[in-house]
Amino acid sequence: MTVHENRTVVMVTGAQSGIGAAVTAAFRSAGQCVAACDLDPEIVGLPHGYHVDVTDSVAVDNAVEVIESELGKIVTLVNCAGILRPGSLLDMTDADWEKTQAVNATGVFYVTRAVGSRMAQRKAGAIVTVASNAALVPRMDLGAYAASKAAAAHLTRCFGLELAAHGIRCNVVAPGSTDTPMLQDLLAGKGATSLIEGNLSQHRLGIPLRRIATPDDIADAVVYLASEQARHITMQELTVDGGASLR
Ligand SMILES: NC(=O)c1ccc[n+]([C@@H]2O[C@H](COP(=O)([O-])OP(=O)(O)OC[C@H]3O[C@@H](n4cnc5c(N)ncnc54)[C@H](O)[C@@H]3O)[C@@H](O)[C@H]2O)c1
Repeated sequence: MTVHENRTVVMVTGAQSGIGAAVTAAFRSAGQCVAACDLDPEIVGLPHGYHVDVTDSVAVDNAVEVIESELGKIVTLVNCAGILRPGSLLDMTDADWEKTQAVNATGVFYVTRAVGSRMAQRKAGAIVTVASNAALVPRMDLGAYAASKAAAAHLTRCFGLELAAHGIRCNVVAPGSTDTPMLQDLLAGKGATSLIEGNLSQHRLGIPLRRIATPDDIADAVVYLASEQARHITMQELTVDGGASLR
C-alpha cells in the first residue's frame, strides 16, 4: 500500500495566478491536498505544482495520471485556467478566436473528460468550472471570450447530466470583474470606475454592490459548490458579480 492510497486531492487548473491561486489557497487552508496546475512553468516551484497546458489533451491525460499516482485520487476538480483576448468580433483574427476557444472551452472539455472518467469509476467527485458573467449578457469587445465561457458553462452542465448517475456534481461559478492580472491587463491602467459606475456607451451596467470582486470572493463560492454543503446542487450556475448582471 502506498502512502497516499487513501489521500484525496483537489485539482485546480490556472492555479498560478488570480482566482486559481485563491482557490488553491482556500482549499489548502481547509487542509486539502491541492494539485496546482498551470501553463506557467513557474508553477513547478510551488508545492504540488504541475506544468500542464489544458489545450493539449495528451498532456492533460498524462498530468491526471501522474497526479493520481503521486498524490492520490482526485475528488474535486476546479477548471479555472482561462485567457482573455479582447477586441471586436469584426476585427478578431482567426488565431485569437481559436486560442480563446481552445483554452476556455476545449481545455475544460479535456480536463473534465480526463478527471470525470476516473471519478465515474469511483462514483465520487465534484467539479466546478469558473466561467464568467460575460457569458450571460452580450458584451462589447468581449465576444470571443463571452462565447467561449458560454460554451464552458453549458459543457459543464452537460457533464453534470452525464455524471449525475455516478453521484458526481458539476457546477459553474460565473464571476464578474475580479481584481486579478487578467482584469489589470484589460483595464491597461485606466482604473475600475467605469466598471463600478457602468458605461452606457458600451451598454454596460455598473456593479450594484459598488466594488470589484477579490479573488477570495470567487474562491469562497467555488469551495462551497465543491463541498458537502452543496451535496444536492448540480448543473447550476452561481453568479458572483455584486449584482452586475441583474440576475
Ligand atoms: N478576473 C476577472 O475579472 C474574471 C471575470 C470572470 C471570469 N474570470 C475567469 O476566471 C479564471 C481565472 O482568471 P484570472 O482573472 O485569475 O486570470 P489570470 O490571468 O490571473 O490567471 C489565469 C491563469 O490561467 C493560466 N492559463 C492560461 N492558459 C492556460 C493553459 N492553456 N493551460 C493551463 N493554464 C493556463 C495562466 O497561466 C494563469 O495562471 C479565468 O477562467 C477567467 O476567464 C475572470
